[in-house]
Amino acid sequence: MIFNQAGLALSCDSQATAGLFDETVNAYLGFSLDTGKHVKALLTAEPQMPMANVLMGYFYQLMGSRNLVPRAQKSLAAARQHGQSATARERTHMDALDAWARDDLRGATAHWESILLEQPRDILAIKLAHFGHFYLGDPLNIRDSLARVLPHWSDQDSGYGFLLSMYAFGLEETGDYGKAEAQGRRAIDLNRHDPWGVHAVAHVLEMQERYAEGIEWIDELEEAWSTANNFRYHLAWHRALYYLDRDEPERALQLYDETTWDPDSREYLDLCNDVALLARLDLAGIDTGTRWNAVADVLSQHSQVHIMNFIDAHYTLGLTAGGKSAAAEQMMASLESELSENKNPHDSYLEVAARVGLALSTAMIAYANGRFDRAVELMLPIRYDIQLIGGSHAQRDLFAQLLIDAAIKADRLRVARGLLAERKALKPNNAATERLQTRVLAALA
Ligand SMILES: [Fe+2]
Repeated sequence: MIFNQAGLALSCDSQATAGLFDETVNAYLGFSLDTGKHVKALLTAEPQMPMANVLMGYFYQLMGSRNLVPRAQKSLAAARQHGQSATARERTHMDALDAWARDDLRGATAHWESILLEQPRDILAIKLAHFGHFYLGDPLNIRDSLARVLPHWSDQDSGYGFLLSMYAFGLEETGDYGKAEAQGRRAIDLNRHDPWGVHAVAHVLEMQERYAEGIEWIDELEEAWSTANNFRYHLAWHRALYYLDRDEPERALQLYDETTWDPDSREYLDLCNDVALLARLDLAGIDTGTRWNAVADVLSQHSQVHIMNFIDAHYTLGLTAGGKSAAAEQMMASLESELSENKNPHDSYLEVAARVGLALSTAMIAYANGRFDRAVELMLPIRYDIQLIGGSHAQRDLFAQLLIDAAIKADRLRVARGLLAERKALKPNNAATERLQTRVLAALA
């Protein structure tokens, strides 16, 4: 029997292949640009290794594109074909990939958690469960999934810093900022090349309105995170956000051009960053020129390949704001027909779409088309459920801002005033809050 670095049995032919597997997972955890190269080397070394094929399938799913689901299914078939003597843990990974490729992220996440009850040192299952809880809008599990496994690890273990950064993010998303910051900083002390650790502390600084410290934190660690894969754009996005938060929107626009917008990127996270930042710049009264059109051009090539409500809400906004509202409406028409035909009760994408995603994305189209009353009508009843689309509090704050803006523009001023009072209680030292307040007061006067 061959074991990997965490002591887990791996069905493979040699210790060298187990080493390649660990290196690939490690590259994934570190957002390495070389992750693709690692997994190719692994599959070249041992094309029949069940977990190598599962890992490849997971990577296809992580791209968030429906076009890649058939490839994930092909990887799963290869894993099953060669996995007759796979361990129970490996078979559960296959079941998780199977569920995920059927749009059942909830089921996949349950499989990863069931692995962790037996094998809390399976860092791949830990990271994927973290991803699942994040995009299922389940912050308590983002936190407690890590709390459950951490007693089985020590700071002598490779990958321990990655666990602390995940735990830090879970603590942050549940509002335990003090502990989150301590764990995140400890993660970075152990390993500076951990973009998720940089990110967890960045979120604490954002939520606590410590914008100058946030800029300093991201700047200081830039040599470590700037070599990461496309996740580096998200860290650059956080830095631009701090500048917006402290009322320096021109600097944020400059950072959009220089550090977040990549015309060649087709990654959903990058495109969501771009949409979210442009929308906030519009709210700050900055002229964004033709930038929406450039984003919408890219989005329109990918508007039918979504598998997450979080993506839909951003893409519909970006498409409509960039002059491609027909593509956005087509996205929602296809979603509506999927909802009416849905025969899979375990499809967590459609489950969330029915509850909140369809209404939110339709509201984004209405908003970007200047139908503000309609946007308010759609968003008000679901605003506390928007968490279910996944993402972070900082990301979803966009929708809170757009709702207030729409309420002002729709002349629903008492609604706007109420929403603003909520926001001010949570974010008193935020330039967006200030700008919205000025407008609400002027309109009421
Ligand atoms: Fe973030």
